[in-house]
Amino acid sequence: MKEDKNLDIFPEQFFWGASTASHQVEGGNKNQWTAWELANAKELAQTAHQRIGWLANWREVREKAEQPENYISGRGVEHYKRYEEDFDIVKQLNLNSFRFGIEWARLEPEEGKWDSAAFDHYRRYIKQLRKRGIEPFMNLWHWTHPVWFDEKGGFEKQENLVYFERFVQKVAEELLDDVTYIITINEPNVYATFSYLTGEWPPEKTGKWQFLKVYWNLTRAHRRAYKVLKTVKPGLQIGVAAQLANIQAKHPHSLLDRFSTKWMRYFWNWWFLNRVKRHQDFVGFNYYFTDYYRGMIKRDNPSVPLNDLGWYMEPEGLYPLLLRVWSHYKKPIIITENGVADSVDQYRQWWIEETIVAMERALSQGVEVHGYLHWSLLDNFEWKYGWWPKFGLVEVDRENGMKRHIRPSAKWFAERIKNIS
Ligand code: BGC
Repeated sequence: MKEDKNLDIFPEQFFWGASTASHQVEGGNKNQWTAWELANAKELAQTAHQRIGWLANWREVREKAEQPENYISGRGVEHYKRYEEDFDIVKQLNLNSFRFGIEWARLEPEEGKWDSAAFDHYRRYIKQLRKRGIEPFMNLWHWTHPVWFDEKGGFEKQENLVYFERFVQKVAEELLDDVTYIITINEPNVYATFSYLTGEWPPEKTGKWQFLKVYWNLTRAHRRAYKVLKTVKPGLQIGVAAQLANIQAKHPHSLLDRFSTKWMRYFWNWWFLNRVKRHQDFVGFNYYFTDYYRGMIKRDNPSVPLNDLGWYMEPEGLYPLLLRVWSHYKKPIIITENGVADSVDQYRQWWIEETIVAMERALSQGVEVHGYLHWSLLDNFEWKYGWWPKFGLVEVDRENGMKRHIRPSAKWFAERIKNIS
């Protein structure tokens, strides 16, 4: 008998899990991002005030944000070495699934040369998940790739897709014996925007045309990966991790606000997914944002509550988004990321509670939600912001032996889901 009536609505097989990405936790990576970090850390530290000085918590984060080391992924949180300890924590938290990335630059450090030790590592890694009864969700590409691929122009050039395809083929042949769920690509819209439109991320390009080419090529990369993977192992369940926002009109009766909303929903949420809809077995998406639009595509969000990164928080916005995703694609949905930057753990429990309610409401409307993977298991390297933002269910003390401490909100979450996983 389940103790908690409300949770009865969740299917017996529901995936309760946590998410990570190789570059953000492993440590010791050598890819195009690490190269960029080393070249830019000093400048990022010097310009921190200019970029994020407006944050309400600036005084607390200032010391870290003004140190160049903050911007170097370096030893990560040593997840590459300590994964067994981390999987024990996953178990302790009553989670039954785990999303992780494999690092292309480790597996193919030089063009066409495979590193068998890296393949062995990930094979052992997956076995250790299985041994604990944790379902692996393997992510193939989360914004990082080998330097040699980047030097050839990365995803900007259609002819480079053969390299990605070859990588996927090799992974399919070598690593998938114990894997059923695959995520091919993480947040293509975010990558294309920051790396090729606003130029904030490597390779710092700012051309509309380049942006569109990359966005487009990523749809092709996914479709090709899908075909390769299905040929090698037809039973695989394949999706992407799209970045979807709950986009709403600031004034629902204003024509212009409604137009902006429609356009943003199409371009940000549906454009990519529409192009891959025949090549996915589930719809995976990451939810962090509810955004209100007014006038000519201007974002106008309430000023509270904000997380540590200054992002407006409306966790219940997941509900209307789930309804819309379901009505568009009618495929099982897996929330591949969802979480909050919250170093003192004041919002995380509330955020997860609201999220569970949003999923319950959607499930009661017949939406097939199959899983929820919280971002993140561990505090990790938050890209251009570096180390100070804290997304982990588990705090990592990088200054004291990388010690892991389970946050109170995570203990609460573990209790909440105990009877269903
Ligand atoms: C990304 C993660 C990132 C998280 C929080 C997502 O957009 O996939 O890599 O850490 O958001 O910013």
